[in-house]
Amino acid sequence: MLAQAGTLTTESPLHDLAAIIRSRTPLIAVESNEEPQIVQMLRQIAQQLQLKAYRWTVTEGMQAYDTDDQPHNSVLKSQEILAFIKASASHSLFVLLDFHPYLQDAVHVRFLKDIALTYNNHRSTVVLVGVTMTVPEDLRSFTAHFRLPLPTPVELRRIVYEVAADWGAEHGQTQVQTTNKTLDLLVRNLAGLTASDARRLALKAINDNGVISESDLPEVMRAKYDLLGRDSPLSFEFETAQFAEIGGMRRLRHWLDVRKSFFREGAPDQFDPPRGVLLLGVQGCGKSLAAKAAAGVFGVPLLRLDFGVLYSKYYGETERNLRKALETAEVMSPCVLWLDEIEKGLAVGDDDDGLSRRILGTLLTWLAERKQPVFIVATANEITRLPPEIVRKGRFDEIFFVDMPNLSNRHEILAIHLRKRNLEPVSFDLDALAAATDGFSGSELEQAIVSAMYTAHAQNRTLSQADLLAEIKQTRPFSVLMAERVDELREWAADRTVPCD
Ligand SMILES: Nc1ncnc2c1ncn2[C@@H]1O[C@H](COP(=O)(O)OP(=O)(O)O)[C@@H](O)[C@H]1O
Ligand SMILES: [Mg+2]
Repeated sequence: MLAQAGTLTTESPLHDLAAIIRSRTPLIAVESNEEPQIVQMLRQIAQQLQLKAYRWTVTEGMQAYDTDDQPHNSVLKSQEILAFIKASASHSLFVLLDFHPYLQDAVHVRFLKDIALTYNNHRSTVVLVGVTMTVPEDLRSFTAHFRLPLPTPVELRRIVYEVAADWGAEHGQTQVQTTNKTLDLLVRNLAGLTASDARRLALKAINDNGVISESDLPEVMRAKYDLLGRDSPLSFEFETAQFAEIGGMRRLRHWLDVRKSFFREGAPDQFDPPRGVLLLGVQGCGKSLAAKAAAGVFGVPLLRLDFGVLYSKYYGETERNLRKALETAEVMSPCVLWLDEIEKGLAVGDDDDGLSRRILGTLLTWLAERKQPVFIVATANEITRLPPEIVRKGRFDEIFFVDMPNLSNRHEILAIHLRKRNLEPVSFDLDALAAATDGFSGSELEQAIVSAMYTAHAQNRTLSQADLLAEIKQTRPFSVLMAERVDELREWAADRTVPCD
């Protein structure tokens, strides 16, 4: 009698739910925000199986679906309905809505257990329906879980049409304006959401102006992330960058450009879809910036996995939370998942009970098995702390080495950062500045401009070439201070990576 704990999700939810009830399950927990649909399904099943059916809410008490079944005395309180079921249920279905809070009370739990234990006498099933549901330990072995399957792309498309038609009717406009391509993208972006969430986000896309345009999509993705990614070590990076802001990296840029359409629209059969890159190199040379720009090139959301948060916030549940985060990334796909400074997150230490090993294992398994278009951009500053498995052939499509900028790239980077601060690059001798900054990283070049601007400002002057040269002279770049480490990295990279320029 106590069969089937577990979660069922297949094509025909009505059929599955009926099967659970027929298989003599005393308790069913339904976690869903589609209450009307669930109630409707249960009503249909009760008719099919010739069960009496009742629903209970805290505001209305117990109501029989069929008025003939309504008992003479009213049954109002949460304990009263359980007492009623225990004493007089017979071949019935009880649908208790939002009963979740009472599951924390020992008396309610005991009542439910008594009902479950005497199932053979009354043959009645209690269905608990709520948006969230934690079944107490004592009841778990009696409880089957049921979840509505998520809408298919066809259903999502229908939802968008319905929402658009309703919006049109309400606003005296016959049609919501959009293009097929945008509609396809919207439907694709709604994947992974429940019907009611999809409805809400579709409405959000239309609402401001009666048009669904591509510019509505980032907002939809952001709202979707808020629904899915709450309380997760993933963060949604609203600010993606553009390669126009990055000096150098031509090869990486080109690599991403030629794969852009395959990533967004799916690769033809004979092609392997782009899966990810590792950017390895000296700190401050633009790896993080390039990760953001990759999302910009692909035109998809950028999600960042923060290993710091993963390890600190979810102590003891780290792997589960990593898996959840990766699932969220798949539901958000197509997207770029950015794993910044992986050596910090995946360095295998000997003082953590093998946790980082298990995290690495979870990540590698997922990398190998992921089905959805989630493009990984991982960055690393060091190789000595990087587990060798991660750089093994085939994990990433390519490992790019991001070296210190050469003369012409320094020229470019200086110009970018001067322009960013409303300074005219032509008023400076950039050739001389680039020549004087051998060994500077992009971030050190930027920093030199920032500091020189302060100096000039303190003396009530606008920034001059001399200010910049003076600042450059004072700077001891990382690549000089840490020459050995940089050399080591270069040596390692020489025959294992591709230069990003
Ligand atoms: N190639 C570059 N082009 C333009 N700016 C750069 C470049 N490299 C670094 N910078 C500047 O330095 C900052 C820090 O770089 P970052 O991307 O964090 O480096 P990394 O991740 O390699 O340590 C960037 O936000 C950017 O302002
Ligand atoms: Mg970085």
